[in-house]
Amino acid sequence: MSNWTLQREGPFRGEISPPGDKSISHRAAILGALADGETHITNFLPSEDCLNTVRALKLMGIRIDAHSATELTVHGGDLSEPETILDSGNSGTGLRLLAGVCAGQPFLSILTGDESIRRRPMKRICDPLRKMGATILARKGDLAPLAIRGGGLQGIEFESPVASAQVKSALLLAGLFAEGETVVKEPSLSRDHSERMLRSFGAQIICEDLTVTLKPGSRLKGQPLHVPGDISSAAFFIVGALVCPGSELHITNVGLNPTRTGLLDALRAMGAEIAVLEESEVSGEPAGTLVVRHSTLKGSEFGGSLIPRMVDEVPVLALAACFAEGETVIRDAQELAVKESDRLATVTSTLSALGADIRRTPDGMIIRGGATLRGAAVQSFGDHRIAMMAAIAARCIPGETEVQDVGCVNTSFPGFLEMLERVTR
Ligand code: S3P
Repeated sequence: MSNWTLQREGPFRGEISPPGDKSISHRAAILGALADGETHITNFLPSEDCLNTVRALKLMGIRIDAHSATELTVHGGDLSEPETILDSGNSGTGLRLLAGVCAGQPFLSILTGDESIRRRPMKRICDPLRKMGATILARKGDLAPLAIRGGGLQGIEFESPVASAQVKSALLLAGLFAEGETVVKEPSLSRDHSERMLRSFGAQIICEDLTVTLKPGSRLKGQPLHVPGDISSAAFFIVGALVCPGSELHITNVGLNPTRTGLLDALRAMGAEIAVLEESEVSGEPAGTLVVRHSTLKGSEFGGSLIPRMVDEVPVLALAACFAEGETVIRDAQELAVKESDRLATVTSTLSALGADIRRTPDGMIIRGGATLRGAAVQSFGDHRIAMMAAIAARCIPGETEVQDVGCVNTSFPGFLEMLERVTR
């Protein structure tokens, strides 16, 4: 088990470019595998989560050439029955999206992941995929490992009770192999990378408000794809720069898809100075440069449709709220309880250990800003975003912080510590 021992260091200054987007990297590899011809991917995220997806696709007979850690060519084609278990490690996206793909295949696949994945809810994908015609056996009915015998699918109209891009994407991927239309409705909009990428690969897809319809019959066509930087990784540095006096950080090549920029909206509502420069479109995804300056923050209330737009950033938003004047209330965030850890619990206990005034509520948390934070020993709970939140806190508060069990950071952000050291020295 490796730990980081960190102290307060100077302001966050300079220029960084976050690694490739995790969500988009998974989808690029998967759609590349399902498409005709070659998909050349640049700025792919070589994190454990995405590499597990690549490994699973290779086990299903797909040739993937790595030209470097971040540059791959996927040779799409028909999938074949894997000889062994597909292991997604810590990745809910990997496992759920691959389950959608496997549901469409006329063979047996067994999908699993680590201890955290084997606790996370799979009923949300198993039920609709079964309705489409897949046979899925699962531990205790709905937990991984999942054994899927797919094929012979029929499109369905499914109203998802949760705003989840993983559920939506699993069904759309299965829908590629189904007869008839696949329609997914969600209660509020989750990230739409699958819809954008499916469209650019040639699928017929219609998005109206909260409903996505995939029409049958189009073949996907491989294409070059550049992955923008991950705003969920940039988020840690955004908050570090905002709360650390004297900071000014330029973050280049960040994905700015509006379904992912909820954190920027929330922080601006708290008074954050964040400018967007050089907006462009990269492979159908908005991107740009952010300039973040230390700002005086004030507490605010967040909930509703904003939450799915910043679902992975709530831990670091809670950290920002510790430095704000007044109270911050986060509601409608019950999905956080079923992430890599129960983040309502792990954020609360980690920030409490550092001296924050924070309380868990049934669907979120309440943070009273202004308490004096001080370094302490904190666990990661095997959750990369908790480890990175604690490391950013450590750089901004007095005393020494030991972040324990930091190996999990490699699931999404290899090179995080080096980048933190570079901008805070
Ligand atoms: C993801 C979707 C989100 C997010 C996860 C990545 C994706 O989960 O938490 O880290 O790539 O589809 P849900 O939208 O399923 O809650």
